[in-house]
Amino acid sequence: MSKLLTIEELTVATTNALDRKLVNMVSLSIEPGRTTCVVGESGSGKSLTALSVMGLLSKQLVRTHGRVLFQGKDLASLSSEDMRKIRGRQIGMIFQEPMTSLNPVLTIGFQIGEPLTVHLGYKGDVLKAKVSELLEQVGIPANRAGSYPDELSGGQRQRVMIAMSIACQPLMLIADEPTTALDVTVQSQILSLLDGLKTSMNMGMLLITHDFGVVSDVADDVVVMFRGSVVEAGSVDQVLNHPQHPYTKALLDCVPDVAGKKPLKPIDYAWLNELEVPA
Ligand SMILES: Nc1ncnc2c1ncn2[C@@H]1O[C@H](COP(=O)(O)OP(=O)(O)OP(=O)(O)O)[C@@H](O)[C@H]1O
Ligand SMILES: [Mg+2]
Repeated sequence: MSKLLTIEELTVATTNALDRKLVNMVSLSIEPGRTTCVVGESGSGKSLTALSVMGLLSKQLVRTHGRVLFQGKDLASLSSEDMRKIRGRQIGMIFQEPMTSLNPVLTIGFQIGEPLTVHLGYKGDVLKAKVSELLEQVGIPANRAGSYPDELSGGQRQRVMIAMSIACQPLMLIADEPTTALDVTVQSQILSLLDGLKTSMNMGMLLITHDFGVVSDVADDVVVMFRGSVVEAGSVDQVLNHPQHPYTKALLDCVPDVAGKKPLKPIDYAWLNELEVPA
């Protein structure tokens, strides 16, 4: 199948004298209508990988190497104007901190409508109808369009972010921990919403999570990151049921068994520190 997004040997390093590699030779690809989950512990480079795809990393803080191809086009070769057109229009992104990504002084209706105006020229009644439709789609009554972010619950704000990110029907969605802060019922509603969009719009999805429950629910493919490197990648069945890398096995051992059959096993960093990470 043709690739929607291909990341080739992406490296992100600090610009300071330490030249620390935060992301090291990461390669992965996303196909239309499929979800790739990126898992790995805190600080393993998941968000930096997503942000560099979107060209959102500060050049003063980090430098990047490698290529990111979207529909075969090298994103680095695009002008910032063309990149802006892709961002939000063809690639949607849900950031890790949705609570701080909404503007507190603008209504949610305005904020959901903004990408539609900027990218597709919607205005007036057509815009209003589309905003209502999007709100309903994410499970918020359309009459809440005039509300401000602080009048909504955390889960509703997260849904507003999702409505914004899918407003222009992007070909691809990058979702960085979209449900981490939510309770399990809202979490499963949002995941099934995203999963439904993936199928109905044939959208490719890069979903960052540290929750293996989420992975087994929505992933088609899984990429495991450890200290900036990909240590294992494969189909969800391969990675969850037949993990090869010791770190993946250790991560899976930490997943609580809801039925309480399996004792929790914390990761033993003494031996993980000895592990070889691809150079
Ligand atoms: N601008 C920056 N300059 C220097 N180091 C950074 C910068 N941004 C992130 N880092 C470091 O890079 C590493 C990877 O960060 P990243 O945010 O990608 O982790 P993550 O896998 O998304 O973790 P989490 O699960 O906690 O969100 C961390 O060690 C972090 O401290
Ligand atoms: Mg992160």
